[in-house]
Amino acid sequence: MSGYFITLEGIDGSGKTTQAILLEKKLVTFGKKVLLTREPGGVKGAEEIRNLLVQGKRDRWSPTTETLLFFASRKHHLEKCILPALSSNTTVICDRFSDSTMVYQGGTNLELINLIKNLNELVVGLEPDLTLLIDVDPQKSLSRGLKRSTKEDRFEMFGLEFQEKARLRYQSLAKELDRFHMIDGNGGIEATHELVWKEVSDHLNLSD
Ligand SMILES: Nc1ncnc2c1ncn2[C@@H]1O[C@H](COP(=O)(O)OP(=O)(O)O)[C@@H](O)[C@H]1O
Ligand SMILES: [Mg+2]
Repeated sequence: MSGYFITLEGIDGSGKTTQAILLEKKLVTFGKKVLLTREPGGVKGAEEIRNLLVQGKRDRWSPTTETLLFFASRKHHLEKCILPALSSNTTVICDRFSDSTMVYQGGTNLELINLIKNLNELVVGLEPDLTLLIDVDPQKSLSRGLKRSTKEDRFEMFGLEFQEKARLRYQSLAKELDRFHMIDGNGGIEATHELVWKEVSDHLNLSD
């Protein structure tokens, strides 16, 4: 495939969506064809599944059912959106991808971690070229996240302890996988963008 696949990861309120938009703008100034998309969702059918996931009561789904819904949404998103873009020389920026499922649904549950690894191989079959982990102090990200008014709070309700655990799981994934690069997201929006751009421009051989 001729395109380049970048994913943004990090706990809620870490600044993924903000940085994804700034990165898209910057890449466009370099004449790149860019597709900015997000998970769960990104395309109509997958957004419908997203609504099932992000709204409603916390115990609405069992952990396994939740994981399978994520993969149903992801497969649809890949088929309709990500793979066609990567085949046509487009840089794809995806706000969350499989690593989110590993961190949030997998957690410390070995059975689910294995299920996710198997589904990644059998159903997804695609690794990002580059994954940026926006690493932020959970206290800070939680207060940023709560400032947003949205119906999509099913995962944000989980509180500080939950976010702290998710941050640690992200950090250990980042140590395990070469495609991960950690970005310090505790600074301002522009400062963080510069760190993001440094990684991406290095990987894509672009210079200002
Ligand atoms: N570096 C930053 N400093 C201060 N506020 C930020 C920063 N990055 C994002 N925000 C704000 O915090 C909130 C959450 O950011 P967002 O990009 O939506 O995070 P995420 O997509 O990771 O949940 C938004 O209101 C956003 O404007
Ligand atoms: Mg976001």
